[in-house]
Amino acid sequence: MRLTFSRIDLKRQGAIVALVSQNKTLSASAQALDKATGGAVGNAIAASRFTGALDQTLTIMAPNGMKAGRILLIGVGKPEDIDELAAQRIGGRIVAALADSGEKTASVAVDAIKGVKLSAATVAANAACGARLRSYRFDKYRTTEKADKKPSLNAVAFMVHDDAGARRQFVPLEKVADGVFFTRDLVSEPANVIYPASFAQRARALAKLGVKLRILDEAQMKKLGMGALLGVAQGSANKPRIVAMSWNGAPRAKDKAPICFVGKGVTFDTGGISIKPAGGMEDMKWDMAGAGVVAGLMHALAARKARVNAVGVVGLVENMPSGTAQRPGDVVKTMSGQTIEVINTDAEGRLVLADAMWWAQKTFKPHTLIDLATLTGAIIISLGHHHAGMFSNNDALCDQLAAAGKATGEPVWRLPLGPEYDRQVTSQIADMKNVGGRDAGSITAAQILQRFIQKDVAWAHLDIAGVAWSNSASPIVPRGGTAFGVRLLDRLVADHYENR
Ligand code: BES
Ligand code: MN
Ligand code: ZN
Repeated sequence: MRLTFSRIDLKRQGAIVALVSQNKTLSASAQALDKATGGAVGNAIAASRFTGALDQTLTIMAPNGMKAGRILLIGVGKPEDIDELAAQRIGGRIVAALADSGEKTASVAVDAIKGVKLSAATVAANAACGARLRSYRFDKYRTTEKADKKPSLNAVAFMVHDDAGARRQFVPLEKVADGVFFTRDLVSEPANVIYPASFAQRARALAKLGVKLRILDEAQMKKLGMGALLGVAQGSANKPRIVAMSWNGAPRAKDKAPICFVGKGVTFDTGGISIKPAGGMEDMKWDMAGAGVVAGLMHALAARKARVNAVGVVGLVENMPSGTAQRPGDVVKTMSGQTIEVINTDAEGRLVLADAMWWAQKTFKPHTLIDLATLTGAIIISLGHHHAGMFSNNDALCDQLAAAGKATGEPVWRLPLGPEYDRQVTSQIADMKNVGGRDAGSITAAQILQRFIQKDVAWAHLDIAGVAWSNSASPIVPRGGTAFGVRLLDRLVADHYENR
């Protein structure tokens, strides 16, 4: 999708898009279009239920007296409620409305609207970002799709008085969208394409953005004593990896401790010997979404040259049943020295993170560590598909994450931790067992993770099992891998961890 910025010109071909705010309040361009069409715009509104509410659209085909194939009205809601996210949704809606319409190009008139707190240039830049986010497709494996089934729309021009300002503001937004696409590609790939070594290979692409890469193989992990991660990996022919991606963008970078992001990268989760039922098991190709988000986030931070020291660490394994797989009841020793009795081999994410997080802290000495993991089915029971679960030892970090979540439309909801949950994971023969029964399954998982957080590290765990994949589109997220977490954490960094 080609996205450009230019001055307002309503005499273009293709689709002309104009904004309408609540109570059918036409923008200047919508009024001009009404005039140019002899009142067709007003008539169409009168004949419909379109009011200008956010997310509404109305199409007027082949308007008389114009070069355009159609006029698309897009509702923007209450002017005072238009923030960056609303502007992104507007752009996403435009793409959704026109993608399969037959139109190849669209020109969006972004007028200044009374009451809107953002400049028209900011609205245009964010609308372009939303358009890009919604335009994502993963179609590399479709070889027989007919041309008339493919999206027709391939270019959108955002027309705004200060087109140069909009273009300038779009630059960092586009980099973040690139990071989102990097993640969505990783998450969408099947597990015969993305396995630990091939994930690591793709992460190498970040080097050209200035990211330093360090990759651990099985032998190195053995030496480091990562028995928990290696126990998960041992049933698979695909060998595990850990990838660390460092971006040192802070001024006087050398002396500043980093913020660290750790992702669960189970490239396929069969459950292991505690094997999952067949129905829906294909979803477990995206059990590496946490790792995918960390890689895409590092892509975004490096590409927009964020003034921060950040490091992303991903623990990559495939969880398979086989003659070499670990058994229920096995006891593994983690790099931290703590031992875990593996009651259920399907509770593997916490085993991977225990070693990946410990190594990340030992190696990079972060002040803050945020892990992302498709960790528990239980979080879907708790929160459905609209919030990620958040667990933390630090109230201020939670407040920051909650605010960033609201601002980006990637919301998080905090759940409790507490020693009262520890009894559920007491083992008869080891320091802990890896499952705590059905009750509070997401919390007991987080309790286990917390045992691998070192003193004085501010930590938050995001359980993204319910939000990493979506079976229905929303304005800026098509169906499929959502990359939930990339925009959230990019925003967290921008608002709180840059220029410190
Ligand atoms: N990867 C799954 C969690 C999951 C479930 C993610 C559904 C996305 C959608 C995780 O490894 C797992 O299997 N968790 C078990 C834990 C249980 C054995 C304690 C679960 O949630 O059932
Ligand atoms: Mn599992
Ligand atoms: Zn899993």
